[in-house]
Amino acid sequence: MPIPTLTVIDHPLVQHKLTLLRRRETPTARFHEVMREVSQLMGYELTRDLPLEDRPVETPLASFDAPLLTGKKLCLVSILRAGQGLLDGMRTLLPSARIGHIGLYRDQETLTPVEYFFKVPEDIEERLVILVDPMLATGHTAVAAVHRLKDAGAASIKLAVLVAAPEGLRTFHDAHPDVPVFTAAVDERLDENGYILPGLGDAGDRLYGTR
Ligand code: URA
Repeated sequence: MPIPTLTVIDHPLVQHKLTLLRRRETPTARFHEVMREVSQLMGYELTRDLPLEDRPVETPLASFDAPLLTGKKLCLVSILRAGQGLLDGMRTLLPSARIGHIGLYRDQETLTPVEYFFKVPEDIEERLVILVDPMLATGHTAVAAVHRLKDAGAASIKLAVLVAAPEGLRTFHDAHPDVPVFTAAVDERLDENGYILPGLGDAGDRLYGTR
């Protein structure tokens, strides 16, 4: 069954850059750079519905009413540590957004998330939250992160991932049907270790050159 809250960002630049990220031979520095570029392009789509209000402006030649952003302020929340890769680019695009961090790691036996850090702005209930994590695999981490954000008062949340597995999308939508999901690709499936196939490998390791 299709996921009604899913948007696949199939822009040619996003798709091209995602392929560069998937390539095994893409080195760490280039991976970081391209992830940053992709996240800016994704940020453009994620913010497409931000409300505008006409406000008076004086150009060197005339006065008129011109559109400026209005409504809720933004908060970008990164799931550590791979989320930092997407956060960097989006922050460039949205420099006045507040930033939150959620530290969750996947227990390699159970594949369930374990929280070790949580810090978000106090006024999160007044903000539009964009939660970023490159890989939506089983979906458990994103589900847990959104539960924590809702517990902290967040009422308006979007999830941005680079690559999603069908299993993760279903799990996430079942838990949080009110949260729209944006992804650059929906891949084939998970492997027996919970990695996305074909995917791009471990996003954190590729971003930081670990392993
Ligand atoms: N996390 C990753 O970094 N990669 C996957 O394929 C799945 C989860």
